[in-house]
Amino acid sequence: MRLLVLACILPVAVAFSAAAQLRAGSAGTSFLPTRVIPTATPTPTPTATPTRTPTPTPSPTFTPTATPTPTPTPRPPTPTPIVYKGPDAAALAIVTKTQGLPPDYAPTDLVSLNDLGIPTYNNDPEQLRFQAAMDLAEMFAVAQRDGIHLLVRSAYRSYAVQAATYAQFVEEEMRAAEQAGQPITREEAEARANRYSARPGYSQHQLGTTVDITSADATDLVPDFGRTPAGRWLHDNAHKFGFVFSYPEGKERLTGYIYEPWHLRWIGRGHAEMLYALDYLNPESPMTLDVYLQGLQ
Ligand code: DAL
Ligand code: ZN
Repeated sequence: MRLLVLACILPVAVAFSAAAQLRAGSAGTSFLPTRVIPTATPTPTPTATPTRTPTPTPSPTFTPTATPTPTPTPRPPTPTPIVYKGPDAAALAIVTKTQGLPPDYAPTDLVSLNDLGIPTYNNDPEQLRFQAAMDLAEMFAVAQRDGIHLLVRSAYRSYAVQAATYAQFVEEEMRAAEQAGQPITREEAEARANRYSARPGYSQHQLGTTVDITSADATDLVPDFGRTPAGRWLHDNAHKFGFVFSYPEGKERLTGYIYEPWHLRWIGRGHAEMLYALDYLNPESPMTLDVYLQGLQ
């Protein structure tokens, strides 16, 4: 009976032991049936859903544009600087009743006096050579400061204009003589005109450096202009600006022309100062512009 019990218990015990070992997972129990117990598939740890990185809004990038070829801006022509070098040979030319200019002589640097703000009679479009015009503008400005309002009656005259001017004076002499009841010949009319008007080709006005000046108060070209404030101002100051009187008072015998206190010729400041210092305005002095210019030859 005891054996039977043992017989019955033993298999059960073995069975329990085997079960225990199985639970313990002992690797050394090779006797156990090699049943592979599948390892539990690990629940995958959910990975964080990647936050979608926003595609950056592309910042505006500087796309270099092709450098445009600059369109050349049209520029005004560079003015040729006019460098003052003093009077040239033409400005110092001797022009008298017997020493004239070629009919086709004309200066090349004439400028408008109106453009320089120099008042002219009736706003006539008078012209002078550049440097003479510059000095004239300064002289007018200084005179104005002194209360003297100068006015240009006539400036550059071409050969053709001088021819017309001279012919007009001759006609006026003949007409005046006739109206006075004492008609004269053309030759006599010319002889009278010759005292105050040059024949064409013999006028200093053709040089472009000579100007007839009066004032707003006394516009006529008469010798009495020399007694007016403007006439006296010119007498005392013209040389400071390069101008001299070609036909001073009391020198008709030397110059061939009556006293013309309005007729001024530009020879540059240095020469004008020198001639003034030589007392050329003194009626007793033999000095004249022509004598001075001859001395420069
Ligand atoms: N009145 C001066 C002499 C000229 O006609 O040139
Ligand atoms: Zn004149």
